[in-house]
Amino acid sequence: MLAKKGLAVSPSPTLVIDSKAKELKSRGVDVISFGAGEPDFDTPAHIREAAIAAINEGHTRYTPASGTRELKEAICRKLERENGLHYTPADIVVSNGAKHSLSNAFAAILNPGDEVMVPVPYWVSYPELVKLSDGIPVAVETREKNAFKVTIPDLKKAWSTRTKALVLNSPGNPTGQIYTREELEVLGYYCLEHDIFIITDEIYERLVYDGIPYTSVASLGQDLKELTVLINGVSKSYAMTGWRIGYAAASPEIARVMGAIQSHATSNPNSIAQMAALAALDGPQECLAEMLLAFAERRKYMYQRIQGMPFLRALQPQGAFYVFVNIAEALGKTHGGKVVADSDDFAARLLEEKKVAVVPGTGFGSPHGMRLSYASSMENIEKGLDRLELFLKELQ
Ligand SMILES: Cc1ncc(COP(=O)(O)O)c(C=O)c1O
Repeated sequence: MLAKKGLAVSPSPTLVIDSKAKELKSRGVDVISFGAGEPDFDTPAHIREAAIAAINEGHTRYTPASGTRELKEAICRKLERENGLHYTPADIVVSNGAKHSLSNAFAAILNPGDEVMVPVPYWVSYPELVKLSDGIPVAVETREKNAFKVTIPDLKKAWSTRTKALVLNSPGNPTGQIYTREELEVLGYYCLEHDIFIITDEIYERLVYDGIPYTSVASLGQDLKELTVLINGVSKSYAMTGWRIGYAAASPEIARVMGAIQSHATSNPNSIAQMAALAALDGPQECLAEMLLAFAERRKYMYQRIQGMPFLRALQPQGAFYVFVNIAEALGKTHGGKVVADSDDFAARLLEEKKVAVVPGTGFGSPHGMRLSYASSMENIEKGLDRLELFLKELQ
């Protein structure tokens, strides 16, 4: 009998869809994938060069388990410069991607049976990561009319005496919505009052459109900062998903526990990737603006096309690179004489019949949704949306 905890974890549905689409492609099938959770750009040249130099200069040995002093200092500078937050290297833990940072954070704060409030729709990994740390994920229902952003009445319904933490994700995956400063103040005050940790996942922080101001909940006061574990990384903003560098900033006590856990689980994150992340954070930032411009154009196009399609509705994303679409009206209709039962079925049939990969809403806790990523070329986006539109028009 294998471990109950391991058996209870479901594999990431986004990675499943992505690998299915890649497998079909490798067999020569003309698949358009809207499944990608990563920028389609190459890592900028100066970052790649820093990694090559790191190898040649001998940065190939173990580093301190929670990351090099130099990278931690660069992270502190970034948090000061962009978020108005003052941290010291003792507050920082560098890990193998933001996902690993989240895993360390839950491991550091949860005791068996502690509950973690996770607003719906959520990024697929939060509930599973909570479970892996013996916690209980509590899905907090949000409302479309509030742009799927969690409110105090929503939290009140989900709160119990065992509530230990709230997960916030802004800009959010899959909705692309951003919490305003005022909204964060209200939520932050509630967490302070109830002594709840805030795990704020800010991995899409640099992917914000229309000049919308970005606020980190940790910047709203010293007491809130102490209660917050801020998660970020270089994966999405610098097109560095494969390098696996994420980080957490927290109170020194939480950071110490996270670092101790990591020191036994994985030791340091890759030494060369740490040097690359240092170049990303300290180097020129123009590359971000170029990628953002391309994403902004695709976002506009995809959102407008979806608005014009039968049975679909979506909120305009404010950040990240996803459109989360409500497909409730398409469900229950028939395609090729067979009923489209739910969002899993919708995604499977779309892939089978039109060779378009999307991520069904089930994994995000939202069975009437689907997520489309626009981290793909305009040509692919146009072609994929044409196929989606055809599929919808064939529904009866
Ligand atoms: C909301 C969110 N947090 C964290 C991550 C993981 O980031 P990383 O690749 O740095 O582990 C992702 C990746 O899809 C994400 O969407």
